[in-house]
Amino acid sequence: MCGIVGCITNGTEAPEILLKGLKRLEYRGYDSAGIAVLNGADIRTIREVGKLCQLETALADLDLPSAVGLGHTRWATHGRPTEVNAHPHRDASGKIVVVHNGIIENFRQLRDELEKEGVTFTSETDSEIIAHLIARFYEGDLAEAVRLATRRLRGAWAIGAMHADHPEILVGARKDCPLVVGLGDDEMLLASDVTAVLDRTQKVVFLDDGQTAKLTRTSLEIVDEEGHPVDWTATVIGWSLSQAERGGFPHFMLKEIFEQPTVVSDTLLGRLEDDGEHGVLADLGMSADELTTVGRVHIIACGTSWHAGHVAKFLVERIARIPVDVDYASEFRYREPVLGEHDLVVAVSQSGETADTIAALRMAKAAGCRTLGICNVIGSTIHREADGSLMTHAGPEIGVASTKAFTGQLTALVLLALELGRMNGRLSQEEDARWSDRLRALPGQIELCLKRADDVHEVALKYVSAQDFLFIGRGINYPIALEGALKLKEISYIHAEGYPAGEMKHGPIALVDSRMPIVALCTHSNVREKVITNVEEARVRDARVIVVANDGDDEVQPIADDILWVPRVDDLLSPIINVVPLQLLSYFIARERGADVDQPRNLAKSVTVE
Ligand code: G6P
Repeated sequence: MCGIVGCITNGTEAPEILLKGLKRLEYRGYDSAGIAVLNGADIRTIREVGKLCQLETALADLDLPSAVGLGHTRWATHGRPTEVNAHPHRDASGKIVVVHNGIIENFRQLRDELEKEGVTFTSETDSEIIAHLIARFYEGDLAEAVRLATRRLRGAWAIGAMHADHPEILVGARKDCPLVVGLGDDEMLLASDVTAVLDRTQKVVFLDDGQTAKLTRTSLEIVDEEGHPVDWTATVIGWSLSQAERGGFPHFMLKEIFEQPTVVSDTLLGRLEDDGEHGVLADLGMSADELTTVGRVHIIACGTSWHAGHVAKFLVERIARIPVDVDYASEFRYREPVLGEHDLVVAVSQSGETADTIAALRMAKAAGCRTLGICNVIGSTIHREADGSLMTHAGPEIGVASTKAFTGQLTALVLLALELGRMNGRLSQEEDARWSDRLRALPGQIELCLKRADDVHEVALKYVSAQDFLFIGRGINYPIALEGALKLKEISYIHAEGYPAGEMKHGPIALVDSRMPIVALCTHSNVREKVITNVEEARVRDARVIVVANDGDDEVQPIADDILWVPRVDDLLSPIINVVPLQLLSYFIARERGADVDQPRNLAKSVTVE
């Protein structure tokens, strides 16, 4: 979704700083971009449709030494992606400039109101009204005008604002959209997320909903909705810049797939029962008593995180024998779910900023449930608002299609299932110890899958021109079939469906012919033989079949055109292994098709609007 960068420095390089910051936010998805910088007594605005290289080219022809500015990447919601709709937007005087991320729900009403007062709009966006509203409230204090303007808004926003008459300040404000202040060396930054400021500072302040921040080069003042000063504390981000860069891989996605052994071991660190450290209980924000009485678990999530939630249903039900419901957050929030005081609602979200997941979490809290966030981004809304949290330690995920965050989530969800099992007495000590051994072995087993990336590449080359794919699996690997299909469609634009293999006869088999490759998850489990039967039924209808199978499994040879071999692990951990060749398969197919792997069309990394 949209990205915001702002800077106030003691030099003349604001355009370069903004452009660099925007490049780091590219992964959020965008269709136009722009910057505004203070140049002498005026604010110069440069906006371009398309990728940042267009903006970069436009800037290269200009000489714009400046200390202060705002930048924005826009993902169109109101109004097409055109130059006039691109941010930054100005008020009628041209002195006030804003960038905005989010959606202003009452913008039509406000636009009518402002038009009646004589304001002429230059764009179709909801965001432009913010500049005009600030102008209406401006009496010499920009931060106060922004605060008063936001009180008239309904919806979600992160806003950056500047004024030509106040080169010494930048203002930021947020509600339901992330915004951070970077505390640099004799400079301050404003950004939608920390990746945009990491090369200048690791010290950040996460703004809270309803807050307005006034930044000078050397100071930061934050007030709440009523204008009362708020104390703030800085967080030091542990991510290095190189963690957020490609590190020699052709795409972030490939780099992130290869980081998965580290992600799993980092997420396990200090959390296994026999580590002698704190386990997971300390993070969960619940007492042992509260955990013992959990009677039902509801998992809410979107996209890939929803698939992780679906795997967790099998984990929690099998290990802790607690019933689990899994909902798309966008459905949960409107279906009036039956919630009780012994229910635990778990929001799974890489970014911690997905609008639907946040809304569903708030609904669960309002209903009196205990809530838990499984997130990757420290300081994100879900991390802060859930009663407790279990962080995944995947580091920044830049590729829009989620990979390493998914395996991090699966790892954290195994830990949660074990903790619930421990608390309600369903998990014996011996079994607990066996789980620790199995989990510790996982990073090495993922390494083995990654060593076989060239084999997956060879298989991928045979299927590059397919138009449709079917992914099938059963039991705990059914969600992995869904995830395999999602990965492929997201990045290669090939139509792909995931299905529980047992449902083939109820519809999908009508689609099967020699042009429809089938990817079947046939690793060892109580349903392996049933999947093999389902594959045979497809083969006799001419399907080409790629099978994911355990090393040494001779029985799959006759049913497969191609085999993606993986090491054998416990069935409940097999999703963490089996997803790896599927990620690689999608990646190589998409790459061969020349697709924009890291930033697929129409998709955003973090969906911060409903
Ligand atoms: C977007 C991303 C997906 C992600 C989903 C949920 O659709 O493109 O990769 O799975 O949002 O995001 P979250 O940050 O809540 O996990």
